[in-house]
This record gives sequence, C-alpha cells and structure tokens, in this order.
Amino acid sequence: MADILRTARLTLFSFSLLVVVTSAASVSNTTGLQRAQTFLEYIDVCKEVASKISAASNVYFPLSNEYTADNYHWASSSTQISACSVEPGTAEDVGVILQILGETQTPFAVKGGGHTTNPGFSSTEGVQISMTRFNEVVYDASSSTVEIGAGLIWDDVYAALADVNVTVAGGRVSGIGIAGFTLGGGYSWHANQHGLTLDTVQAFELVLPNGTVTTATSAFNPDLFFGLRGCFNNFGVVTKFTLTTYAQEEVWGGFIVLAGDKLAAVAKATANFNANNTDPKAQIIVELSTLEGLPGATVNIFYDGPDQPQGIFDELLAIEALSTDISTRSFLSLILSSPANETAGLRTAFHTVSITELTPSLLDVIANETTFWGSNVETILSSGVFISYDIEPFLPSIFTHGSDSAYPPSRTQGLLPLNIYFAWLAPAADDYFLNAIRQSAATIQAAAIAEGQDVANAALYGNYAVIGTSIYRIYGDNVARLKAIKAQYDPDNVMGLAGGWKIPT
Ligand SMILES: Cc1cc2nc3c(=O)[nH]c(=O)nc-3n(C[C@H](O)[C@H](O)[C@H](O)COP(=O)(O)OP(=O)(O)OC[C@H]3O[C@@H](n4cnc5c(N)ncnc54)[C@H](O)[C@@H]3O)c2cc1C
Ligand SMILES: *[C@@H]1O[C@H](CO)[C@@H](O)[C@H](O)[C@H]1NC(C)=O
Ligand SMILES: *[C@@H]1O[C@H](CO)[C@@H](O)[C@H](O)[C@H]1NC(C)=O
Ligand SMILES: *[C@@H]1O[C@H](CO)[C@@H](O)[C@H](O)[C@H]1NC(C)=O
Ligand SMILES: *[C@@H]1O[C@H](CO)[C@@H](O)[C@H](O)[C@H]1NC(C)=O
Ligand SMILES: *[C@@H]1O[C@H](CO)[C@@H](O)[C@H](O)[C@H]1NC(C)=O
Ligand SMILES: *[C@@H]1O[C@H](CO)[C@@H](O)[C@H](O)[C@H]1NC(C)=O
Repeated sequence: MADILRTARLTLFSFSLLVVVTSAASVSNTTGLQRAQTFLEYIDVCKEVASKISAASNVYFPLSNEYTADNYHWASSSTQISACSVEPGTAEDVGVILQILGETQTPFAVKGGGHTTNPGFSSTEGVQISMTRFNEVVYDASSSTVEIGAGLIWDDVYAALADVNVTVAGGRVSGIGIAGFTLGGGYSWHANQHGLTLDTVQAFELVLPNGTVTTATSAFNPDLFFGLRGCFNNFGVVTKFTLTTYAQEEVWGGFIVLAGDKLAAVAKATANFNANNTDPKAQIIVELSTLEGLPGATVNIFYDGPDQPQGIFDELLAIEALSTDISTRSFLSLILSSPANETAGLRTAFHTVSITELTPSLLDVIANETTFWGSNVETILSSGVFISYDIEPFLPSIFTHGSDSAYPPSRTQGLLPLNIYFAWLAPAADDYFLNAIRQSAATIQAAAIAEGQDVANAALYGNYAVIGTSIYRIYGDNVARLKAIKAQYDPDNVMGLAGGWKIPT
C-alpha cells in the first residue's frame, strides 16, 4: 500500500514538474532547457532546506494543498510558480533558510498575507517562504500591547482582541496581512487618531540575513527600527510585531453603494468632508469606479464610537443610495461587512498619487479619469473589469503621531494617498494596464500641481505604488540613511534575492 502511494506521489510530482517547467518556459525568453536546469537547481536547494530545518517547519512541492496556499495571492498577477514552498515554524529555522538561500544565491520570496499587487514582491520562481505558522496573538493588558505573529491577517487579530474590547490600528477591510501592511506604513481606521500603523509598533522580532534572530525597538537597534518602519523586507524577515492596543467600544458605520449618476454629488460631498471634518474619529473611503464599463461609487463610513455624530456625514448620507448597510456594530463586523474579495483572483494593479487637498476641481479630474479609463474602448477590449479610484481624506495631522521612519520621508506635510486600482482578466493585457495606471496617476498629479499643491516630489505610499516606481519617490531623502543601514545588516545583499522596493547596497 505504502509503495503504491509513493509511486503515485512520484508520478504526480514528475507531472507537476513538467507542467511547471513548460509553463515557466513559455512565458520567458530563455530556452526551455535552461529553465528546467534552473528549476532543478532550485529543487536541490529545497531539498537542502528540508534536510536542515527542525520538525517545526516543512517544505512543500507542487500539487500539495500547502504549496498551493503558500503561493496564493489576492491578485493572480502577483503569483509565480515557485520550485517549492517552505513554512518555517521558528525564527531559528528562518535563519537556517536565509543562510542556505544566501549561500546558494537562490531567488526567494517572503509572504505574509499575500495582498501585494506588485508581481514578484512576495512571489518567486525559486523558494517561496510563507510565514503562516507565525500565527500567535498574545495580549498584555498591563502594557497595552499585543504580540502578533507575522503570518496573520488583521481579521484574526481583531477577532482575538474583541473579547477584551481592545483593538490595533490595522487593515480597513478583510484579508490583508499584518506584515506587508505594517512594514510599508499602514493606513487604518484609527490613522487620524494614532498615525500610521508603523507608528504604533513597539518592537519587531526579526531574523537578520545572516541568520541571527534579534529585535528592534526605538532603544535597541534604533537604526533597524527606523528602517523596518517603511522598508519592508530589506533588512531581514520579521517574525513578530509588538503593537500598541487601544480600547475599542462599538463603532458606527458601514458601506453604501451609489449609482453612476451620483458621481458628481459624491465628489462634492467628499470635498466638503475633506474641507470641514476635524473629528479624528470620523473617516471615509470614497471609491469612484466603473465595473465592466458601468460607473458607480461606494463609500465606507467609519465613526469610532457607537453613535452617529452630528453633521459630519449628513451630506453623504443625503445622496440617494442603491444600498446602505450602516449601523452600530462591533469593529470586526464593520471590517467584514465591506467587500474586499470582489476582484480576488483577477490580475490587478494599484498606483497612487499623494495630494494635500481634495478640492472640488481635483475630484472632477478624478471622476473624469474613472469614466475615461472605464469606458475606453481599449480598456474594454483588454478585458478591463474594474477601474477605480479610492479617495482617502485623512486629517492633515496624520504624520504628527510618530517619530522618524523610513516612510514617510518627511512628516512636516500631511499627504492623502489616492489609491488607483485596476483589475482585468487577460495576462496579455498586463502592459496595457500598467501603462494606463501610470498615465492616469501622472494626469492627476499634474492637475494637483496646476492647482498649486506642493506635491511634485511628495512621497508615494509603497503599499500603493505600482512596480517600477523609483525608491526615491517612496523614501526621498531617507535613501542615503537606508543604504547605510543596508550595508551594516545585509552586506551580502541576501535580501536582494527577494523582490520588493529594494535599497541598493
Ligand atoms: C483589498 C486590499 C485592501 C487594502 N487596504 C489597505 C488599507 O486600508 N490601508 C493600507 O495601508 N494598505 C491597504 N492595502 C495595501 C496593503 O497594505 C499591502 O498590499 C500590503 O503589502 C499587504 O500586506 P501582506 O502581508 O498581505 O502582503 P504580502 O504580499 O505578503 O507582502 C508584501 C511585501 O511585504 C514583504 N513581507 C511580507 N511579510 C514579511 C516579513 N515577515 N518580513 C519581511 N518582509 C515581509 C513581502 O516580501 C512583500 O515585499 C490593501 C490591499 C488590498 C489588496
Ligand atoms: C529575447 O532574446 C532575444 C535574443 O537573445 C533578444 O534579442 C531580445 O531582446 C530578448 N527579449 C527580451 C524581452 O529580453
Ligand atoms: C466588552 O464590552 C461589552 C459591551 O460593551 C461588555 O458587555 C463586556 O463586559 C466587555 N468585556 C470586557 C472584558 O470588558
Ligand atoms: C477574503 O479573502 C481572504 C483570503 O485572501 C480571506 O482570508 C477572507 O476571509 C475573505 N474575506 C471575506 C469577507 O470573505
Ligand atoms: C463644508 O464646506 C463647504 C465648502 O467650504 C461649505 O459650503 C459648507 O457649508 C460646509 N459645511 C459644513 C457643515 O460646515
Ligand atoms: C478626461 O480625461 C482624459 C484622459 O486623461 C482627457 O483626455 C480629457 O481631456 C479629460 N476630460 C475632461 C473634461 O477633463
Ligand atoms: C549577524 O549580523 C549582525 C548584524 O550585523 C551581527 O551583529 C552578528 O554578529 C552577525 N552574526 C553572525 C553569526 O555573523
């Protein structure tokens, strides 16, 4: 019986190898033979990893459920076919793995929640590291902090903390990983009150590229602490985050869907909200979109308290909606109620423009971009499904809550990160949409500058910026300091074998 199973498994494995090699070769410029050779080298590395990690960790190969889950990304364009996946179970094993990958110069990826929209940032054709086994939530009431494993998504953390009526400043919708979100910045429903999520980090536990497990706080390894707050995977692999917790009572809010003929009214109400709101507990996300060519809008409404506040949301709520789901509810219920997976599995790109003010005229430009790209014949022919612009009016004081960090490079001016979000079906259309999203961002930025906004060099948010964006646009004048930190902690550029926003050595 065991023999039969083993034969069956081997056959399946050879089959998957063939599938992997042929499909990888077909999308690349190198020959099939070269690809197969490289692939077999990676398999050898996978075997070496398997032989050196402890029983707490495992290596998985194509066709296993674990391999499939470890390679999964919210955007299918962010997935690659890796040679194997590894699920480390201890920080020490992460160290063992990084040393092998460094010595063999094997491309790899580190995945938290897999929500990056940039190809190759948490995916690879080499060794896919999935942090899923780092899944503990340990709350300490006495210090108002919580230790969170790097493999969790925010949903899990909110659920674990709900019993004790506290929360952390994390993702605003379901499914987002805590790791990439926090390491890049983190715009949460609590951002007006507490700053970016990286401003709420007390400590990181991380594995340096040479395999050493260490921690970074404002007092211990302060350079690393500065760099990790914004610079993703440049200095090692984070295994645990210690975040500040906040008391959380019930909240008021939810989700509204509006028809296309309300775009102008929504834009006007958004401009007024941005101009008038001073209450840090009130936040919105306004999304202007076209779904298969049909324009529409959605609004996420959040108030950090059980009762509807006076005035603040009245103009938005007065617009006739197609559907409304607003109530007093638990914080977790609010997070889960908003659609987050509608385009999951499609090819997707995000990009961003940093602006200082959402004027009515700039909102007109954004609304026009929505309908222009959404109804564009080429977009439709290229299988464009969803074209959207997420407007996020935070208070101008948003960056005043924290100390110096890799992102944002300057805290003197508050920036509103517009999130442009395109989703499509055909892989062949990737270039079309990447060009379109860059062009659209440039149009909106030019309009903001023409209005007198000082945003020509405003830092872009790394978790929204499209692949190909210069790291100087994200980290600005911090790049020099980040290079020095990189030289100290990763002199051999092991982390350069993983994709992402890369600080050169
Ligand atoms: C539906 C949706 C909603 C979103 N909403 C928001 C929002 O409200 N606010 C906001 O700020 N952003 C938002 N984002 C953007 C989000 O912050 C990024 O996609 C973020 O990178 C996701 O983190 P992740 O762990 O899921 O990503 P992953 O794809 O797993 O990782 C992203 C990057 O982080 C690195 N990384 C992951 N884990 C580790 C680790 N343990 N150590 C070192 N490096 C690591 C990866 O290598 C990769 O470069 C949203 C994205 C989506 C798709
Ligand atoms: C593919 O290879 C050919 C021949 O070596 C080369 O001319 C071409 O530029 C390559 N294309 C890409 C996209 O790298
Ligand atoms: C949490 O809040 C609820 C609702 O206000 C309350 O009933 C419950 O006792 C609280 N739990 C704790 C542990 O404080
Ligand atoms: C969305 O998808 C993620 C997987 O990426 C899953 O964990 C989450 O539960 C889903 N959320 C909802 C509301 O369905
Ligand atoms: C909000 O701002 C607009 C434009 O400045 C103004 O017309 C409107 O009266 C303001 N609303 C409130 C409630 O202050
Ligand atoms: C709408 O946007 C398109 C593309 O950026 C531009 O060519 C066009 O002039 C804009 N129209 C208006 C009315 O602004
Ligand atoms: C790993 O790098 C750190 C930081 O540079 C250094 O302190 C440590 O001694 C190194 N460990 C080994 C085993 O080389």
